[in-house]
Amino acid sequence: MRSTTTGPVTLLAIESSCDETSCAISRDGLILSNIIAGQAVHEQYGGVVPELASRAHMQNIVPVVDAALKEAGCRLDDLNAIAFTESPGLIGSLLVGSQFAKSLALALDLPLLAVHHMQAHVMANLIPGRLPAGPDGSPASVDAPAATALPSFPFLCLTVSGGHTQIVLCHSPLKMEVIGETLDDAAGEAFDKSAKLLGLPYPGGPLIDKYAREGNPHRFSFPEPQIPGLDFSFSGLKTAILYFLQAQTAKDPGFIAASLPDICASIQDRIISILLNKYRKAAQRTGVTDLCIAGGVSANSGLRRAFQELGVREGWRTFIPPFEYCTDNAAMIAITGHYKYLAGDFAPLSVSASARAVW
Ligand code: KG4
Ligand code: ZN
Repeated sequence: MRSTTTGPVTLLAIESSCDETSCAISRDGLILSNIIAGQAVHEQYGGVVPELASRAHMQNIVPVVDAALKEAGCRLDDLNAIAFTESPGLIGSLLVGSQFAKSLALALDLPLLAVHHMQAHVMANLIPGRLPAGPDGSPASVDAPAATALPSFPFLCLTVSGGHTQIVLCHSPLKMEVIGETLDDAAGEAFDKSAKLLGLPYPGGPLIDKYAREGNPHRFSFPEPQIPGLDFSFSGLKTAILYFLQAQTAKDPGFIAASLPDICASIQDRIISILLNKYRKAAQRTGVTDLCIAGGVSANSGLRRAFQELGVREGWRTFIPPFEYCTDNAAMIAITGHYKYLAGDFAPLSVSASARAVW
């Protein structure tokens, strides 16, 4: 197998766990390109339809990989390894990305790096600042200094996505420990299911965020579940919102339309307080003061603001990935792959995607 022990490490990374097809190119951990193709086809169904997601990945993957190579100014010959999302996710979606990655690795005689999607969300916090492009718009030079500060180990990460809600204690790039997680719905599901109850299209999280900006978060009060330890629960909140909306619309059928910003702001405020109250507890228990957030819900403007304000009060250093690295993207697969490459943690060609995987 072709591999280099000296010189820059250039990786091609693929993410296809759900409904985004993404490819990134990294060089020595710096992201040179990160192309993401969404799938509008699911909107009309109110959620991701797995079979349609697989088909869209098959249509998108070649153009997305081409675009990533082109934007990075990179040729297939420049690559040292291929990274891909191995698990968890929709099995049909994962299979498209993993089969493509394996075929490319076989054809180019390159090693494979199998990446866990949730670990990659955490690792988005270790992506160095995007380097300035050259004066003629050419790709970033690896000689230029990286801009942003990164968290120091050990750090905590609150990973909030459509399928997971976890508090992760990170000892090193490849050694992470889940110290709290949801017992039922994920935070993203709480947003999306609430949005569905309000008649908003999928995915509803960004829309709740949008309407909440104009609303009063104190107008309606939703319960905070009393769950021991560092675990979360969101299913009770969903039920409370359902009963609340049923009662209000029975009195006034126009209630949702008339109060949408206030309802969204109140729901968002409760989801954020559930998340941050547990996160503060985790910081107190572990004594860790570098705290990150990651995953699709970390794109939420209210969460980003509340997390940073809490950090100031608690004396934490807070870290939030740039917006494009919060929702699903291949840059986070590339940075995780980069650390795996340095550790020599390669996967055999017989590796297969897995819908569920513990770590
Ligand atoms: O990490 P992600 O892109 O995919 C998974 O791995 O699940 O997260 C998707 C989730 C969805 O539930 C989506 O509604 C939520 O992230 N999300 C948001 C926002 N942007 C994405 N939730 C609240 N506010 C947002 N701005
Ligand atoms: Zn994700």
